[in-house]
Amino acid sequence: MRIRPISGALGAEILDISISDGLTNSETATIRDAFLENKVIFFREQKLTPKSQSEFARIFGEPDIYPFIRGLEDTPEVTEILKTETDAKNFGGSWHSDTSYMPEPAMGTVLYALETPEFGGDTLFANTAAAYDALSVGLKKALDGLRAINSSDHGYKGGRAAGMARLDAMKGTFNPAAQSYESDHPVVRTHPETGLKSLFVNRSHTVRFKGMTEDESRGLIHWLCDHIIRPEFTCRFQWQPGSVAVWDNRATQHHAVNDYQGQRRRMHRITLKGDKPN
Ligand code: SIN
Repeated sequence: MRIRPISGALGAEILDISISDGLTNSETATIRDAFLENKVIFFREQKLTPKSQSEFARIFGEPDIYPFIRGLEDTPEVTEILKTETDAKNFGGSWHSDTSYMPEPAMGTVLYALETPEFGGDTLFANTAAAYDALSVGLKKALDGLRAINSSDHGYKGGRAAGMARLDAMKGTFNPAAQSYESDHPVVRTHPETGLKSLFVNRSHTVRFKGMTEDESRGLIHWLCDHIIRPEFTCRFQWQPGSVAVWDNRATQHHAVNDYQGQRRRMHRITLKGDKPN
């Protein structure tokens, strides 16, 4: 197996390995190390069933049930992310870290491409640890101890349900019983495995700093969100059928680019259980 970084900021492709073939302990350890070091890893030309995707996901953590979309019949931890030729909106089309509104947000996500557009539909990733490192000592000090409120309803008028209902192809899989979630988390979190500090605010879900109004918080939250996605902290992944990405939500954000109107994109997604950010 070969590991090839795709940018100076984060992300590496892992080549010459079939992830559905029963990985040895040493291959598993190499892949897990590459995941922690590169924050998002990619594989090409894989053939996964929902079951084998779920088995592969277990080398990183425990698959979770995503509350807003019904999963597949036999593998409820796998949700289908579909945009058809007639859909205008996509899923995940703004910068975020998955389920940051939950008390224990998803630690990672495993995304597998089944159908991809001829062009477009890439996913952007940002390294939130590099973004933290680049801050001045003064701003790092100011952020120390600050907490932020993250809400599943932020950014969608009428909440997540209204947002999902705009996705034509997927509105049938929306779970109308899903509750709204709101959690406060440290603005600077420490990765439980690498010990690295990273910024944990995002444009899709962070509403305000704890103990402050939205109005008072807006300026700095926007500044931090803009800072995190500076080009030098990002990478871009171009999907093909059979591509797989595994990202670490504790040290990254991502954005699914919605630039393939009139084309179809179908993915299988698994989120992994996380712990309380500290
Ligand atoms: C997501 O936000 O999990 C979706 C990412 C993608 O479809 O590229």
